[in-house]
Amino acid sequence: IGEAPEYKLVPLRGFSLISGIHSPEVVDQIQNFEIQDSDVFVITYPKSGTIWLQQILSLIEVKGDVTATINQLNSERVPWIELLDSRKQFVSAPSPRICVSHLPYKFMPVGLKQKKGKVIYVARNPKDVLVSYYHFHKYANMLETPKDFDTFFEKGKEGNVFGNCWFEHVKSWFSHKDEMNFLYITYEDMIKDLRSVVERITSFLARNLTSQQLNDVIEHSTFKNMKNNPQANYQQIPVILLNHQLGSFLRKGTVGDWKNYFTVAQNERFDRVYQQKMKDVPLSFIWDMNDLITP
Ligand code: A3P
Repeated sequence: IGEAPEYKLVPLRGFSLISGIHSPEVVDQIQNFEIQDSDVFVITYPKSGTIWLQQILSLIEVKGDVTATINQLNSERVPWIELLDSRKQFVSAPSPRICVSHLPYKFMPVGLKQKKGKVIYVARNPKDVLVSYYHFHKYANMLETPKDFDTFFEKGKEGNVFGNCWFEHVKSWFSHKDEMNFLYITYEDMIKDLRSVVERITSFLARNLTSQQLNDVIEHSTFKNMKNNPQANYQQIPVILLNHQLGSFLRKGTVGDWKNYFTVAQNERFDRVYQQKMKDVPLSFIWDMNDLITP
């Protein structure tokens, strides 16, 4: 009693969960959760903008009124489905039930695959994911602190982290998209033009917002405003989980930070793996801030 739980990666059907946060029994039940048409699942590989979507979806539901979000953390409004107590929360939540998940496709509720509910998949270029995840491993107490970036590069590239292999995650969800009501968006598109992505989300969810309400959603979802908003930035998550001295969820919020970390050799190796793993996948990513500006 009173001791810090021991967090470690534990395997479940080819995927790693974090003990003390996830339970294999709970995660294994998710496929049987009964899905309603109004349910919304946001799926991300870690560090792809989960917290950003939690903020945007919370705001869309209250039509941009940030004061309505003041009393509750975003992770309570839009919880992770794989956390220990998720089942009770999910079953009792009022409609629309909106949740996020890092789980691979195979763990998902069967109903979603029968076109009940809606899925929003958010992808981010994997080089920036790796750098963001490196910093998150230093900041998050439930994840092993990496010795240095080079060590983490190897681990992340191989998928020896929570979330496992980035390539498998994106590919497994994307290849099943036609079975679901599925919207695919990218972090880079959100950086480039947040308004148009928010419009795609509202139209996918069939929510009607006035243009002023849409402006408010966008205004309260900017990096700067989220960083200053205690309900959005997770500063209140207990230190046992996140060491707030060592980092923050809202870290840099940009495209191409990997260039400050990858060596030329690492980049070449990563590109080779990327080309091989993604050769049959019709997806492309923006890797650099300069590529965001259309000439
Ligand atoms: P960086 O570490 O590169 O800054 P997740 O929520 O999936 O863990 O993803 C966190 C990443 O999303 C962090 O990336 C964080 O800064 C970024 N992010 C969150 N909200 C953002 C926003 N409003 N604008 C830009 N980036 C945001």
